[in-house]
Amino acid sequence: MGLPMRARSLPRDGYRAPSDVCEADDMNSLNDDARLNELLDELYRLNDAQNSAIDEYYANGAERPTGYEEEGSSSRKFWRDKFVAIDRDKAEFVYLICRSIGATRIIEAGTSFGVSTLFLAAAVRDNGGGIVTTCDNEPTKMAVARHNFEKAMLSDSIDTQTGDIRDTLRNIDEPIDFLLLDIWAPIAADVAKLVGPHIRTGGMIVADNTTVRRNLYGGLFEYLDDPVNGFMTRTLPFDGGLEVAVKTT
Ligand SMILES: C[S@@+](CC[C@H](N)C(=O)[O-])C[C@H]1O[C@@H](n2cnc3c(N)ncnc32)[C@H](O)[C@@H]1O
Repeated sequence: MGLPMRARSLPRDGYRAPSDVCEADDMNSLNDDARLNELLDELYRLNDAQNSAIDEYYANGAERPTGYEEEGSSSRKFWRDKFVAIDRDKAEFVYLICRSIGATRIIEAGTSFGVSTLFLAAAVRDNGGGIVTTCDNEPTKMAVARHNFEKAMLSDSIDTQTGDIRDTLRNIDEPIDFLLLDIWAPIAADVAKLVGPHIRTGGMIVADNTTVRRNLYGGLFEYLDDPVNGFMTRTLPFDGGLEVAVKTT
């Protein structure tokens, strides 16, 4: 079975929030959505409060996560309650480019507590309706993310896929407008290889922190730089770098 990419299709996880029966009002811009902006303010406050714990973790010699860690590993345990949300200016930029290209079929690698997903879902809502398929392998994170989607009244635009992304993204049968790679850098190439062939011409891949994690993103750059895959890419000078790749052929 393919991923549900049509507006208002039932998410495969079977999740449908009570708020799904409510109208998402008549929002047509992130700027107009006070409810969403208040929720984002609160989530970014919680995200920022975790920065010192993360700094200390690395100061004690911990390795960067790869995305290939086993359930039960100390790395998975540490990151399970961490937001690691995409910076707000990057998320707002992602919202704007999704609006600009009229994205209605979006895949996100790395849900965490759903901060970036909220921007993507607002974009598809404001583009007239669609589906963001968002993937994370931590069920407890996904449960909190769903709660946030409900609060924002955006559940109807989001399909949650829980499990290792190399499994959950195996069956894509519709063209994809936009892929956000906000997952641990080493596994991003695997995701690009699964999704890239389904991205329509003019569609995009955006990946976070491609300047600071360039050495860990090696496989992704091999994929994007290989002309056979049809992408042209540039690293934008956001803090840490933001990769913006467009499928040009
Ligand atoms: C940087 S965080 C995502 C942050 C989120 N996009 C946001 O802005 O709020 C990366 C997420 O990738 C998830 N992840 C790591 N390896 C994964 C895998 N193999 N399959 C699915 N999800 C994975 C982690 O659990 C983590 O929540």
